[in-house]
Amino acid sequence: MREQPSGHGAASGVREPAGDMVVVEDLRRTYGSGDTAVHALRGVSFTVARGELVALRGRSGSGKTTVLNLVGGLDAPDGGRITVDGTDVAGLGEDGLLALRRDRIGFVFQSFGLIPVLTAAENVGVPLRLRKVPAREREARVSLLLSLVGLLEHAGQRPGELSGGQQQRVAVARALANNPALIIADEPTGQLDADTGLTVMNLLRAVVRSESVTALVATHDTQLLALADRVLELRDGRIVEDA
Ligand SMILES: Nc1ncnc2c1ncn2[C@@H]1O[C@H](COP(=O)(O)OP(=O)(O)O)[C@@H](O)[C@H]1O
Ligand SMILES: [Mg+2]
Repeated sequence: MREQPSGHGAASGVREPAGDMVVVEDLRRTYGSGDTAVHALRGVSFTVARGELVALRGRSGSGKTTVLNLVGGLDAPDGGRITVDGTDVAGLGEDGLLALRRDRIGFVFQSFGLIPVLTAAENVGVPLRLRKVPAREREARVSLLLSLVGLLEHAGQRPGELSGGQQQRVAVARALANNPALIIADEPTGQLDADTGLTVMNLLRAVVRSESVTALVATHDTQLLALADRVLELRDGRIVEDA
């Protein structure tokens, strides 16, 4: 579904831009100062190759959300370097960050983040509206995305009329709306029961294969870790394992 010169993904031999999708070097982030300072990240380095699904694991407070927010341009680091899809994130101003988040990154959050008064289809269409995609093109793409996540028949329902798993699938469809290069998901199954969580993670897994997208997913669910190409473990603001 990503608009590329020809075909899809690595299997069809599409030439991707050179370099890793995400490069993080010696990332540091301290919240507050003085006696109350929290050193959330103490020098984190890792890469995510194009087309990879990388899981970030670690107990609560280990720094997972901080890493994702920095990579996604939602927060600024105190030190270190972040490159996403060849762009130096730290070097971007507000406009550049806005464009990065809108055009190249799709976010999925634990709490779904859907707009309650909008239907599933309208929620998926929000990123397309922000880019002023014409109505007909928007509707076609929304239908394609909803069928990709298996929810075309629920297009007209509002989030409150959908199960948690269905809401998260809508959120995945919305995250894919603008053909992002990178999906960032912060404990996307944290509010779901085990089976539903597995369905959502399998969807992310399938999307990474079929849509030429790369994903960085924070989770501590072992069932989900098994679906990742690689697992990074954070402990007290440092990567302790890269397996
Ligand atoms: N806005 C904030 N202000 C102060 N401390 C924060 C803030 N956000 C996170 N922290 C602290 O930074 C550390 C890492 O948090 P976080 O990245 O949310 O970890 P995780 O997502 O792995 O649970 C924790 O000690 C947390 O309390
Ligand atoms: Mg977190």
